[in-house]
Amino acid sequence: MEKFVIKGGKPLLGEVTISGAKNAAVAILPATILADGPCILENVPSISDVSITLQIMSDMGAKIRNINKTTIEIDTTHLMQVPIAYDLARKMRASSYFLGTLLGRFKKACVPMPGGCNLGDRPLDQHIKAFDALGADCKIEHGMIEVHAEKLTASHIYFDKVTVGATINAMFAAVKAEGLTIIENAAKEPHIVDVANFLNSMGADIMGAGTDVIKVRGVEKLYGANYAIIPDQIEAGTFMVAAAATRGNVLIKNVIPKHLDPITLKLEKIGAKVVINDDSIRVIGSDCYEKTSVKTMPHPGFPTDMQPQMTTLLTLANGTSIVTESIFDNRFRYVDELRRMGADILVDGKVAVVQGVEYLTGAPVKATDLRAGAAVMIAGLIARGTTEIEDIYHIERGYENMVEKLRSIGADITKKIYSDVSVQEAL
Ligand code: UD1
Repeated sequence: MEKFVIKGGKPLLGEVTISGAKNAAVAILPATILADGPCILENVPSISDVSITLQIMSDMGAKIRNINKTTIEIDTTHLMQVPIAYDLARKMRASSYFLGTLLGRFKKACVPMPGGCNLGDRPLDQHIKAFDALGADCKIEHGMIEVHAEKLTASHIYFDKVTVGATINAMFAAVKAEGLTIIENAAKEPHIVDVANFLNSMGADIMGAGTDVIKVRGVEKLYGANYAIIPDQIEAGTFMVAAAATRGNVLIKNVIPKHLDPITLKLEKIGAKVVINDDSIRVIGSDCYEKTSVKTMPHPGFPTDMQPQMTTLLTLANGTSIVTESIFDNRFRYVDELRRMGADILVDGKVAVVQGVEYLTGAPVKATDLRAGAAVMIAGLIARGTTEIEDIYHIERGYENMVEKLRSIGADITKKIYSDVSVQEAL
C-alpha cells in the first residue's frame, strides 16, 4: 500500500510549474481517433488517467510514440474496434469520450459504463440525448453502452443541464455529421474551448466554444495536427489554495490567469494577496482569513473541482463559512476525513457549514476521490503533526509529480510504500 506522509506546519515558498490540463488531455487524446493521420500533442500531463487513456488506445491499435516527457505522437490510422477493457474504462469518467469519437469515425461504438470519482449520481442521459439527436441508436446492455448510426446527421441539441462531458461528446459526434449542428446550453469550461480548438486545428468547423451555444458544421475529413494542451486550471487552483492555507508565498507558473478568476476572487475576499502576471500568478498567504460563502457553479462560476480544497482552507477562517455544492450530489465525503483532523464542519445535503477552528492536527486519513485527496493533502500541510494519507492512487489520477512539486516549495511530504513486513521510502 502506498501513502503520503506529511509533516505539517511549513509555509510553501518558491515557484512551481503547472502541468497540462487533465480534463483537456483525457478528451484530446481520444479526439485523435477522428483524424486521418498522426497528431503531435504537447504539454500532456504524466498522470494515471492519461496512461489509462493511452492504454485503451494502444489496445485498439493506435501507434503511440513519446517524443519527450510531455510530447507524444499518436497515429490512429490503423485503429480497430476492439472491446475496451472494463477494468480500464471503470477507472475514469472520461472513458465515455470513446463513445463520441468512435461514433464519429466508425459510426458505432461499444464502451463499458464509465467510472471515475464517486461524487453521487452521474448519469449519461445527456450524452445519449446528443447521440440520439444526431441519428444514433443507443442501448445499454450487460454493462456496455452501444451506439450505432447508419449516418450521422446534424441536429439541434438542447441540453437539459449544463454538462461538460456531454458537450464534448456532442462535438465529437457532430464534427463529421452532415450539416450544421447547434448545441445549446453547452458547458463553457476552459477544456471545452481547448477541445474545440484542437478539433478546429484538425480541420473541423466549430464556432462558439466557450459560450453556451456551440455551432458545429460537419466536414468530411479531419487531418493530423500539432497541438499544445492548456495548463491545468484545477492543479493551479490547488497550489493557490495550498499557498494561501500554509501562509506561504508561491509563484505559480504556466497558468492562464483568466481561468483562475473565480479562485483568485475568493482568495482575495478572505484575505490572501494574489498578484496576476501574464502567464503566472503569485499567492501570498495571510495570518488570518475571514469567513465567506462559496457556491459551485458551471464555468465561469466557482469550480466544483476546487470545492474540497477551498473548504479545507475555510476550516481555519474566522467565523462560519457556508459552502454549497450545486453540481454533484455527494461531494462532501472528504469532510469525515477533515473532522478526524479537528475541523468543525456540518453537512446537510448539498450545504456544508464550516466553523473556523484555531488549528488542525495530523491524523491517518483517506483520499476518498481525486479532489478530496487534494483537500486532505492541503489539510496535512497546515496541520500540526503528521498526516498519513491512504488511497493516494486517487490523487495520482490527476496530479503530476505532486510530491516532488510540493517538496520543491518546502513541504515535508514523502511517499511511502508499505508492505506486510516493511516500509520503504519511495521518495
Ligand atoms: C467533468 C470533469 C470533472 C468536473 C465536472 C464538472 C472531466 C473528465 N471531468 O465531469 O472533473 O467535476 O465536469 O465541472 O472533464 N449530468 C447528467 N446527465 C449527463 C451528464 C451529466 O445529469 O448525461 C449531470 C452530472 O450528474 C452532474 C452535472 O451534470 O450533476 C455535471 O456533470 P458533467 O459536467 O457532465 O461532469 P463530467 O463531464 O462527468
